[in-house]
Amino acid sequence: MKTIAVLTSLPVVLLSFSQLVTAASSSPSPSTQETLAKAPEEDLRRGHDNHHRQKPNFLVFLTDDQDLHMNSLDYQPLVKKYLRDQGTEFTNYYTTTAMCCPSRVSLWSGQFAHNHNVTDESPPHGSYTKFVSQQLDKNWLPTWLQDAGYSNNYIGKFINGVSPALKHAPKGFDHHHWEPLVAPNIYTFYSPVFATNNGPLEAHTGVYQTDIISDKSIAILDGLAQNKTQPFLFVISPTAPHDEVWPTSNGTRFTPPVPAKRHEHLFKDAKAPRHPNFNPVKNDKVSWIQSLPRLNEEQIKTIDATYRARLQSLQATDELVERVIKRLEKNGQLDNTYIVYTTDNGYHLGTHRMFAGKQTAFQEDTNIPFIIRGPGIAKNKKSNAVATHTHFPATVLKLAGLPIPEDLDAHSIPVLEDKALYGKDQSSEAFAVEFWSTAFMENTTARYSTNTYKSVRLIGRGYNLLYTVWCTGEHEYYDLVKDPFQIRNIYHQTKATVLNRLDALLNVLRTCKGPTCRDPWSVLHPPTLDEKNENKEKKKSKARRGVHSLKEALDKRYDDFYAGLPKFAFKDCLQYYASENEFTVPQHTEL
Ligand SMILES: *[C@@H]1O[C@H](CO)[C@@H](O)[C@H](O)[C@H]1NC(C)=O
Ligand SMILES: *[C@@H]1O[C@H](CO)[C@@H](O)[C@H](O)[C@H]1NC(C)=O
Ligand SMILES: *[C@@H]1O[C@H](CO)[C@@H](O)[C@H](O)[C@H]1NC(C)=O
Ligand SMILES: *[C@@H]1O[C@H](CO)[C@@H](O)[C@H](O)[C@H]1NC(C)=O
Repeated sequence: MKTIAVLTSLPVVLLSFSQLVTAASSSPSPSTQETLAKAPEEDLRRGHDNHHRQKPNFLVFLTDDQDLHMNSLDYQPLVKKYLRDQGTEFTNYYTTTAMCCPSRVSLWSGQFAHNHNVTDESPPHGSYTKFVSQQLDKNWLPTWLQDAGYSNNYIGKFINGVSPALKHAPKGFDHHHWEPLVAPNIYTFYSPVFATNNGPLEAHTGVYQTDIISDKSIAILDGLAQNKTQPFLFVISPTAPHDEVWPTSNGTRFTPPVPAKRHEHLFKDAKAPRHPNFNPVKNDKVSWIQSLPRLNEEQIKTIDATYRARLQSLQATDELVERVIKRLEKNGQLDNTYIVYTTDNGYHLGTHRMFAGKQTAFQEDTNIPFIIRGPGIAKNKKSNAVATHTHFPATVLKLAGLPIPEDLDAHSIPVLEDKALYGKDQSSEAFAVEFWSTAFMENTTARYSTNTYKSVRLIGRGYNLLYTVWCTGEHEYYDLVKDPFQIRNIYHQTKATVLNRLDALLNVLRTCKGPTCRDPWSVLHPPTLDEKNENKEKKKSKARRGVHSLKEALDKRYDDFYAGLPKFAFKDCLQYYASENEFTVPQHTEL
């Protein structure tokens, strides 16, 4: 059971481990699969570790509002060269709340938004103020790493609302280098303002944000290289391709991101992808989206201009990635560092007639880039294992050989094992996407106050489903295998037997915590005493009895059980999470 701990300590053996993994994926041999299945997560939970080995470093590039479905990664040749070609890309990686602040809190805490309750970007329900008042930094990934001897370092955007009055480091980032961008200059590309370790504000005028972050990152890395025995976490979070955001007396104004001068001329012909869901004629969505008129020529021009600005603004990020990775190599830090490239949430331009922004449960806003390279991780691979930001802390702890707290809402992502298909742990097939705020179109003043919803996403062999219950009592249901662009809402054409299962699962996931998030079906189908004893006996066996997937739950013998369960509903379209606003109603009652 010490396989991985030993392997990660020895780069030479590691190489053969990844060869072994590649071999396993091309010709699955039972014994190899068995070895991989016995990833020592249980040992790690108990704090098993090899004390003689140097712990790995973690370097995270965290961009802001970067899409996967508008193809922005295709315009980043250096991310391809240094990360996609050298690592594994997780194509089913999601944020569970399509908004920067809740998303970033889930990433570092391993909790869904209904558990951390940072549900908005500004106070009182979101922002750094809310994060601090909830004391979410008491017990989260940065403190777990710091307690294990890590040097934690951060530069760039943390979460919304880091302001001159509130720029102190959260716990876990308070011992080494904490250098957040400070409001109102978090998103102003040529006038960034930083504060190092809660010190005085440091304003730069006429200097490009990503470039100064790049210079500072190199200096921080060189500092870290002075101490070869202390492992580090280093987060680099430039704001591109997020819009510029300007506070005005008239509210907040969003304008497209500004590229570095040297990139202004690029991609003159690029246009937002005209996928089948771009400005569609057919619009059978929830009422607030249905009410949107089709975009006019003027708006489409603006969308394309915004699209180009986003791609241009990402070029400096691309250069930053190359520069940092080359420096890691020069400093001798590269071989022992896991490098992650991800973003907080996705972004749409023109889809379903929505001008520009995020905040929906659709693919564009929730399915995001996640690339990881490092010791033992397959190169130039794509994995469709289902994962979310909430899975991130357990993943890091596992790679670091540290204990994984029992109350995390998600297990680790199978980054080391090349399971070409969905993770062995079936619980990763299902997660909730949640939202409790208004929707707005960036670069317009329109606000939509009925964008509170809960969705369940189910992704597994042969199915990919999105089921949503809205605060208005409306429902949506999409089959993304047949309809990847979510054009046809098939809620009214779907059998109650299927909808009953989805609703029941949503009902578990909306309040799940820890183990019930990791295996929601077990709440609906608790193991019998016999099964429990049986499982205890063959503890190592992966053959679990009972229901652990949609496929198993669809068994006819459970039809009556699911039909009898009350259905999930909201009382009201509140813009925050109040548990009494989310309840169940007897079956067949449509609000
Ligand atoms: C979440 O926070 C809001 C305040 O922002 C509070 O009113 C609400 O009760 C909290 N919800 C839960 C479930 O604790
Ligand atoms: C390196 O870091 C470790 C852990 O913080 C510390 O004990 C040690 O003194 C440091 N070494 C140097 C050379 O600074
Ligand atoms: C504020 O917004 C309103 C409505 O969009 C507009 O009519 C008005 O001119 C704006 N005022 C200023 C000072 O920008
Ligand atoms: C915002 O939208 C308007 C109207 O579509 C457009 O004319 C304007 O150029 C946009 N602003 C920016 C900075 O793109």
